Formats: sequence, structure tokens, C-alpha cells
Amino acid sequence: MEVLGIDVGGSAIKGAPVSVETGELLAERVRIETPQPSTPEAIVETIASLAGRFGWEGPVGCGFPAVIKDGVIRTAANVDASNIGFDLRAALRERLGTGEVGVINDADAAGLAEVRWGAGRGVEGVVLMITVGTGLGTALFVDGRLVPNTELGHIELGGQEAEHIASDAARKRENLKWKEWAQRFDAYLRTIEDLLWPDLIIIGGGTSKKAEKFMHRISPRTPVSGARMHNDAGIAGAALCALPEALRSPARAG
Ligand code: BGC
Repeated sequence: MEVLGIDVGGSAIKGAPVSVETGELLAERVRIETPQPSTPEAIVETIASLAGRFGWEGPVGCGFPAVIKDGVIRTAANVDASNIGFDLRAALRERLGTGEVGVINDADAAGLAEVRWGAGRGVEGVVLMITVGTGLGTALFVDGRLVPNTELGHIELGGQEAEHIASDAARKRENLKWKEWAQRFDAYLRTIEDLLWPDLIIIGGGTSKKAEKFMHRISPRTPVSGARMHNDAGIAGAALCALPEALRSPARAG
């Protein structure tokens, strides 16, 4: 089955048709800058034009960088505040003219993909996926089952919000050397593992493509793996959320 996977981010909206059996992207992904201001109406229009680029009329799964409850956006750390309370699922159903639309937190989407097809495949126990990009996103899995909407990028670290000092955006904004950023990220990982004691941490998001710059500089006690699907995880996992619950879980594939 093919689903159009969409990954809405703070800086770009990306999408491609995905095989929900294999997690493969079936065409070159399309990337469009996130409209500024990133109002919900502008985002819906951008998603519609992305779907149009593929002539898409089938099911659509969308990852969005916020808490999503029942299709409704509940927070807005890296998008315009007017998104709070917006029923994104209903708006996309109407705009795209299909009932088969699912919406999920972006990090949860990436985690679903990694647990089903990537670094977390078959791993028992507690798996935490952390996406490092404009924000710090988290997805928590217990024996392959997602605990949705964890927002552990917002925990306090040295008196500040972790996302504000240890995201990729913070590294760029403050012009940090990789060594300096890695020190902060290492402190973040240690705080997280003291709170959750996961069995595996998977690091994804745009930064996972630069693993060689920082992996040797972090030393949590938990085994750490880079995301195997890199930036495609967000698109592939978003596609899964268009499926009924029974089809997409347990996330562990045999
Ligand atoms: C948001 C999360 C999101 C993460 C990564 C955070 O600022 O609160 O919902 O998953 O950024 O985009």
C-alpha cells in the first residue's frame, strides 16, 4: 500500500509517496520551505501543493512538530502560535478531499519508522528516539509500542530549556563548535537517561547525518544508535499514521 508521507518542520515541509510495507520512499522527496509566518492555513496550502506535485489522491499521513491529540494541534514551540487548537486532520481531509488522513507528532513519526524498519527494530524494553533539528523531539516506545506526545526536549538543563541550548538550531544560532555542542547534548542525554533508564537511544533528525562529528564525544551509559533511515524516517513514519491503529502497531515488525 502507498501513502503520501509528509514531514512538517520548522524550516521545511518534505514529502514523498511511501510503501508502508517496507518504509521505502517510492519517489524523490519534494521539499518546500515552511511558509512564514507558519500559520495553519499557509501550512495546509503548502501540503496541498506538495500533494499536487505528486498528483496524489490517496491516503496521507502527516508529521507535525507539536503535541497532536485526536488530529488537533495542542502546542507550538517552533511554529506560529495560531496553530494551537487547529484541527489539522479535519482541515487536511477537507482540503485534500480524502478521509484517509492521519496526523502525528513529527518525532513520534520518525520513531515509528526507526522501530519498525530501522535501528530500533526488534528491540525489547524502553527505546527513546531523539530528533535533533530546529527543535529537540522525542518518541518513547515500550516493547515497540509508542507512548505518544512525549515532549522531553523541553526539560530543564542547567536552568534553561534543553531545546534552547542543545538543538541543532541552538548550535547554528550560537555558532558552536561541534565539541561545544556535543558537551551540551551529552549533558542532555545523561539527564534523560537518569529520568527514564532507556535500553536504547536512537538519535535522528538532520543532525544524524553528521554523526561522525559528535558520536565519539558523547558517553551516556545507554547504548546509542544513529537513525538508520536518517531524515527519511519522518516521512516514512508519518505515512504509517494514515493506517488504522490495528495495522500500524505493534510497531515491531517480525
Ligand atoms: C516540539 C515537539 C517536536 C520537536 C521536534 C519541539 O519543540 O515541542 O512537539 O516534536 O520540537 O520538532
